[in-house]
Amino acid sequence: MTLRESTDRIVIIGAGHVGATAAYAMMLRGIFPEIVLIDDNHALASAEAADLSDANALARPSRIWAGTYDDAASAKVAVITAGAATHGAENRLSVAARSAQIVRDCVNALDAAGFDGILLIAANPVDVMTAIAFNSGSLPASQVLGTGTLLDSNRLRQMLAAHFNVAASAVDAVVLGEHGDSEVAIFSAVRIGGIPLQEFQTDRPILDTVAVAKAVRESAYSIVSGKGYTSFGIATAIVRICEAIIRNERAVLPISTLMHGIAGADEIAISMPCIIGANGVEQVLAPLLNADEAAAFRSSSLTIQGVVEAQVR
Ligand code: 2OP
Repeated sequence: MTLRESTDRIVIIGAGHVGATAAYAMMLRGIFPEIVLIDDNHALASAEAADLSDANALARPSRIWAGTYDDAASAKVAVITAGAATHGAENRLSVAARSAQIVRDCVNALDAAGFDGILLIAANPVDVMTAIAFNSGSLPASQVLGTGTLLDSNRLRQMLAAHFNVAASAVDAVVLGEHGDSEVAIFSAVRIGGIPLQEFQTDRPILDTVAVAKAVRESAYSIVSGKGYTSFGIATAIVRICEAIIRNERAVLPISTLMHGIAGADEIAISMPCIIGANGVEQVLAPLLNADEAAAFRSSSLTIQGVVEAQVR
């Protein structure tokens, strides 16, 4: 495949379950005319690209191929899905050292290829990997983001929607902090059809917020115990972020980005609601949290900071 300039090319690094599923969803939604899969296992990337191409005649036209880092030079977006997988009850932070080496190698190769687009990290532990990607590369902080708690927020919205028997699209709810065990579900900001949770549940079954937060936090563990990995939820979160970038939507999404002294988080990447557009993170928003949520967010920041420092040492 010869290189040609494209303004709307994405490179997906890692052609495993998450990378391939993200490529499939991007193709169905037609958001990138060019999708490049890069994997150390080139045969795997080639097979996934061929399989995706077989579906393309019935989807939106895209060119999909297994490429190399050279293809990243003119890409608008690069996504790193390659990293160490968690198994069983293993928590995301426990694979930090293994993922860090993989993410550093990918970032160095992107840098060497002259990539200067938006870099989206999906490898776990995603907040730590986002900080490592920023520290090991040459892109400005606004161009390096992690999928963060967009997935957890979608899980929360879905659970609230099921409890109250409304569409998930009517539920405004976010999880902030680490994409992991210290994440914080922000119930004080939940709105259903614009109505605050307390008011909405006056005539309805009261929500057990502790149980719901636990179910959201443990969702990935139960999926991993059943199928060995998670893919659809995270792949769809990747696609949603890429769509906001490529369409310059200025969508507000909870994603992981470098913080400079917001809500006690400093020089680490962690999720807060952010305005996402063509330049990546256009602005970090700092919502008003109640005292318990603010304390939990600070504690989540400290958890991430400890692991980032251990990786940088
Ligand atoms: C997830 O939450 C494992 O981080 C991945 O689905």
